Amino acid sequence: MPGAFDSIRRVKNLIALALVLVTAAAAQAAPPRLEKHGTTQQLIVDGKPFLILGGELGNSSASSAEYMRPHWPRLKAMNLNTVLAPVEWDLVEPTEGKFDWTSVDELLRDARAHDLKLVILWFGAWKNSMSTYVPSWVKRDQKRFPRVQIADGSSMEILSAFSANTRDADVRAFGAFMEYLKRVDGEKNTVLMVQVENEIGMLPIARERGAVADKLHGGAVPAELMRALAARGEKLEPELRERWQKHGRKASGTWAQAFGDDEWGAEVFTAWHYARFVEALVVAGKRHYDIPLFVNVALNRTGRKPGEYPSGGPLPHLLDVWKAGTPTTDMLSPDIYFPNFAQLAARFNRADNVLFIPEANNATNSQGPANAFFSFGELDSLGFSPFSIESLGDAPNALARAYEVLEQLTPLLLETRGRGRTAGFRATIQEDGTLIDSPVKKSMAGIEFTVTFIDPWTPRDKQTIGDHGGLLIQAGEEDFWFAGQGITVTFKGADSGPPLVGIDIAEEGVFDENGVWKPGRRLNGDQTHQGRHIRLPPGQFQIQKVRLYRYR
Ligand code: DGJ
Repeated sequence: MPGAFDSIRRVKNLIALALVLVTAAAAQAAPPRLEKHGTTQQLIVDGKPFLILGGELGNSSASSAEYMRPHWPRLKAMNLNTVLAPVEWDLVEPTEGKFDWTSVDELLRDARAHDLKLVILWFGAWKNSMSTYVPSWVKRDQKRFPRVQIADGSSMEILSAFSANTRDADVRAFGAFMEYLKRVDGEKNTVLMVQVENEIGMLPIARERGAVADKLHGGAVPAELMRALAARGEKLEPELRERWQKHGRKASGTWAQAFGDDEWGAEVFTAWHYARFVEALVVAGKRHYDIPLFVNVALNRTGRKPGEYPSGGPLPHLLDVWKAGTPTTDMLSPDIYFPNFAQLAARFNRADNVLFIPEANNATNSQGPANAFFSFGELDSLGFSPFSIESLGDAPNALARAYEVLEQLTPLLLETRGRGRTAGFRATIQEDGTLIDSPVKKSMAGIEFTVTFIDPWTPRDKQTIGDHGGLLIQAGEEDFWFAGQGITVTFKGADSGPPLVGIDIAEEGVFDENGVWKPGRRLNGDQTHQGRHIRLPPGQFQIQKVRLYRYR
């Protein structure tokens, strides 16, 4: 009875189609989330992985839609896919309990109109240590919302982390914001993630004083922090491990007994209490709308003591304290303005912390693009985002060109990140700006790649070696993608196979809007120095597709 089989098949097909549509709709509506991917995590948006090619707005720009109007198309032209923008507590809750979401609505409207995603920065109780974004009714009520007291008893324009009133007010406002966000963006997913507070850190002392703070500091370290340190053991960040060790690796005791009676010990106390405050916000926020939430940090210079820099934030040496204090926060994320970008970024790429860079020097400092390539290729970064992005000159600028290439590579990067099939390269720069221009080596797929940042064909005094950088993606056993600028790569065998490695095919090209590779020139002659190396010349970001082969 072929007719009956046909109708059964038709019904089955309809059911299958309905299932596909329902699944696709569910994926579309599901909130952005982080998902395990190899050794790292993937940001999933609308059911698909997403890589953030971002830029953060200057602090005041998003408070005026009018001011932002000419900037949105420029940000789009710069090949950004995401803008990081503040939402201010003072603007959204000008009167206690009465919320005004105009600034949020305008941000969403304008980002959507320009096909851009947003990462929102919650400027709540603290912004760069200080408390300048809190509403007037908080600022002016010091009795209800106490300030940090320093050693001489005077107070700062910094809200105390030990006030339940302050915490609860910030929690209520942040919770209301997240609830609103779910209501207005839960289907569209314009907002990918939210940063909680901004660059928390105590100044100008390592821990606040006053009756409450002093009493807590004199008391016992919470058992959960002690347990977390013990559980992490040898994996603790070295500075904290040494400090804990030096004070007898205690399982209990006061803060001073466990971590020392100096400013470094005091900073551990500060970090814990900031983290606990943040945890209350994150838990409340996620209860309303469960999307990735993260905390950013202003980094410290070597040799400075706590109090001389914003102290107690999720700094590299305090990451374990923060992880224990706020287990619900998804990521601790560095703002990197120092020249030793690579070294600092690497500390935030941990098994329990995917790297995301919410702020970096903007592209007027042309090392930005090299840092972007490095962080995606070497450190599995979820995203990169220079600060004050709207103040850059019109595209094409170096960042726009770098993002154009990174956008083409995004599908490949998303597939390979966290799977040991990518590498990033840039010249090492020390904290004081000293450039180490020696080559770097990386082994992958049985081949040792040696990457030099000194271009063989450009006079040395015409090169800005600190800007040179790139990445490598392994596509198949012998197939690789190279991208970036100002790098030259040579190869040799690194396993028991034939020791010599030659270039079978090298070609430049672009991925078109459908992700199809469109080869340009085949590079067999001078461009590869007759097969001796792969060269991405300085001054132009590009992609080369390369097939290598082995011989004796
Ligand atoms: C880091 C802060 O997080 C930003 O909000 C801004 O103040 C920049 N510093 C300015 O360089």
